[in-house]
Amino acid sequence: MSDLNKIALKIISNGKGILAADESNGTMTKRLTSVNVTSTPENRLLFREILFSSESMKECIGGVILYDETIKQTTSLGKPIPELISSSGAVPGIKVDTGAKDLANSSGEKITEGLDGLRVRLKKYYELGARFTKWRGVYSISDEHPSKLAIYSNAHSLARYAALVQESGMVPIVEPELLMEGNHSSDVCLNKTSEVIKKCFDELILHKIDLSGIILKPNMILAGEQSKDKISNEEVAHKTLKCLKGSVPGEVPGIAFLSGGQSEIEATKNLNLINNINNTKFIMTYSYGRALQQSALKIWSKNIDGIEATQNTFNHRAKMCSLAAKGKWSYELESK
Ligand code: 13P
Repeated sequence: MSDLNKIALKIISNGKGILAADESNGTMTKRLTSVNVTSTPENRLLFREILFSSESMKECIGGVILYDETIKQTTSLGKPIPELISSSGAVPGIKVDTGAKDLANSSGEKITEGLDGLRVRLKKYYELGARFTKWRGVYSISDEHPSKLAIYSNAHSLARYAALVQESGMVPIVEPELLMEGNHSSDVCLNKTSEVIKKCFDELILHKIDLSGIILKPNMILAGEQSKDKISNEEVAHKTLKCLKGSVPGEVPGIAFLSGGQSEIEATKNLNLINNINNTKFIMTYSYGRALQQSALKIWSKNIDGIEATQNTFNHRAKMCSLAAKGKWSYELESK
């Protein structure tokens, strides 16, 4: 078993998943403004420190993805944030892309940037305690999208990123996210997601990536937000598994889904069903941002210096996600 494979398994095994707390300052400002909290470095840290010192970190969270600002911050007691995370048994991670920019010659599509100087940045993040990383390629769905150009260029960037990350001794999360926006059917989402993931693996293999030392972070297969095709949670689970079975090589240890705008309950229910019928060898778990933090953020915004209510809310959500990662969640448990 390679060292990278060991790190990957530590993050995603035994019902543990990933807390994606790597919102850029821009995105975090939107989240905080939506609950009437001013977005300052201190307030961003305050909320995150409350989550990272919650009890559920020990049982339910195998890794936390941080943003550049947060990995360099220290707690109110002077402990570096990566140390706080490691002390609960979770692995500190870091988002290393610098965001999705307009893709030249393809109107409305994005290419993720951040390769320039990446090798040097990775060394610094390793020294700060990071042992895994994230890079998100983002694709819209329409009749023309994602275009071949978006599929090829993002797969190429993801592979170059993954190679540099493994070279620096960390596990790359490879995240190709097909967005929910649009009126496409779930079958269109299935076909396009499969095409994108297959291309990502073509490039990862070309770049000699150790596939046992990555974690794939895909979207679930859903109908577009504006689509009339309202599929059941069971169909979501079946189609998601069909997609991954057909496009992910067997060496990959696990898959950690993004929540992508699903409600907390939907994201939990779908993951639970995926695990109930998981007919693959892959571990299937969560790497949720909004679906782990939304309720906690609302509660926190009512009293930003109060810790207990926010932690109770986060602990509950993390516990529900962890049960779903083992296929042991049920709706009744939500109210217990
Ligand atoms: P969501 O779960 O809110 O989609 O965020 C996960 C993530 O890290 C997106 O890159």
